[in-house]
Amino acid sequence: MAVFKGEVTALPPDKSISHRAALIGSLSEGVTEITNFSAGFDNQSTLGVLHDAGIEVAQQEVDGAYGRRIRKVVISSRGLWSFTAPENPLMCNNSGSTMRMFAGILAAQPFESELVGDSSLMKRPMKRVADPLRQMGAGVDLSPAGTAPVRIRGTRDLTPLEYRLPVPSAQVKSLVTFAALHADGETRIIESIRSRDHTELMLGLETIDRPDGERVIVIPGRKTIPARSFYIPADPSAACFIVALGLLGSNSEIIIRDVCLNPTRVEFISLLTGAGADITIENSRIIGGETIGDILVRSTRTLKPLVISNPMVVAGVIDELPMLSVLSAFASGEFELYNAEELRTKESDRINAIVVNLERLGFDCEQYPDGFRVIGRRCRPVGQVTVECFDDHRIAMSFAVAARATGEGIALSDSDVVGVSFPNFFEIIENLKA
Ligand code: S3P
Repeated sequence: MAVFKGEVTALPPDKSISHRAALIGSLSEGVTEITNFSAGFDNQSTLGVLHDAGIEVAQQEVDGAYGRRIRKVVISSRGLWSFTAPENPLMCNNSGSTMRMFAGILAAQPFESELVGDSSLMKRPMKRVADPLRQMGAGVDLSPAGTAPVRIRGTRDLTPLEYRLPVPSAQVKSLVTFAALHADGETRIIESIRSRDHTELMLGLETIDRPDGERVIVIPGRKTIPARSFYIPADPSAACFIVALGLLGSNSEIIIRDVCLNPTRVEFISLLTGAGADITIENSRIIGGETIGDILVRSTRTLKPLVISNPMVVAGVIDELPMLSVLSAFASGEFELYNAEELRTKESDRINAIVVNLERLGFDCEQYPDGFRVIGRRCRPVGQVTVECFDDHRIAMSFAVAARATGEGIALSDSDVVGVSFPNFFEIIENLKA
C-alpha cells in the first residue's frame, strides 16, 4: 500500500456550479464575472456552445489563493433573449449537463437549433428533456431511440407549467427552470427525491418544503436577472477520489481545501464515516450561498462494506457511486447497490462498467437491472490488468485510485478521459505520494 500525505489546494472547481454560473450569466443583464471557473473539458464545452449561440465569453488566467493561477470567465449579455441562431449544430462533446440544460434555454429562443455530442453523449436519454419542453410549447425532435441530436424549434411564447420530476435529476430540474425563466407566468417544479440544488440557490428562487417531504421550486417568468459575480468552490465529486485515495492508502493523511459542502453533494462523506472512515470537516463557512470547508482524511484500516439501497441516498451519491463501489470492494471485499437504474444512463452504463472491471480484477459480482453486488475476491490477478474506461472519466479515476493506492498492476484503457472533469488528477496524486 502506498502512503499519501499533504494538502490539496488545486482541486478542480465544481463542475455543476461552473455550468450553472456560465448559463445564468448568459441569461443575466450586464457583465457576469466567474472566479475559479473549471478548466475541465465539460465546462469548456458549455462556454463553447454559449459562444456559438452568440454570447460574448472571455476567459483569462488570474492570481488565486495559495499562489495558484486560476481561471476567470467574463460573460456579457443583454438578458433572457440575447442569443442568435447558431450556424451549425452546437457541439456539447461529452457533457450531458451542457446539452440538457442549454436545451431549456434554446427552447425559449425564437429560432431553430440542434445539439449534438460525442459518441457517449449521443447514446444518453433525452426524452426527459423533450417532454417538459414540448409541454411548454417548444418543438423538440429526437432520434427514434430518444437520444440526440436534439433539434429544437424555440418560441418566445413558452407557457408556464406545474411539473413533477419523473426522475430525480438536477439536470432536468435545471433545464425546466431555465425555460421557465422565459415563460409568461409562474412555473412550479415538484421533486419528491432531492437532487442538487445549485440552480435554485444561485437564482435565489423560492422553495417550499411540504410536510410529506416533497419540495416545490417556484420560478417567476420574465423577470430581469441582474448580472452578478460568482466564485466556484472545489468540486466535492472530485474530492471523493482523493478521499478514497487517503482511506485506501496506508498511514496517509490528506487535507483538501475549500470544497463545496452543499448538503445535496456530500452524502458520500456521511456514508463513509458511517462505515468507519476517518474523515473530518474543518473550517466550514458560507460563501455566495454555498457551504464550503476543508476535508481531512486519514487512512482507515478496516472499512465496513457499503450497502446502498435508499433512493434518497442513491440520488445524493449518484456521481460518487463508481468510486464508493470500487473503494468498498478493495477495502472490505464487498459492496451492495439497489434502486440505482439511473447509473446506467451516465457517461457510460456505469453498473456494467464497474462490474466488468471488478470481475477482471478477480472480484465476484452479481448484476441486477438497478444495481449490483460484490460478493468477494477469489484471487489477486497475476500481472497487469487493463481496466476498460468506456469513455467515462469517473470509471477511469475510480480504478486509477485503486491502482495507485494498492500498487496493483492496473492500467487504464484511456487515461486522457479524466480531463472531462479533473484535468490535474494524476498530477495531484503524484504530488501526494509520500
Ligand atoms: C448534474 C446532475 C447529475 C449528475 C451530473 C451533474 C448537474 O445528473 O450525475 O454529473 O450538474 O445537475 P442527473 O441530473 O441526470 O442526475
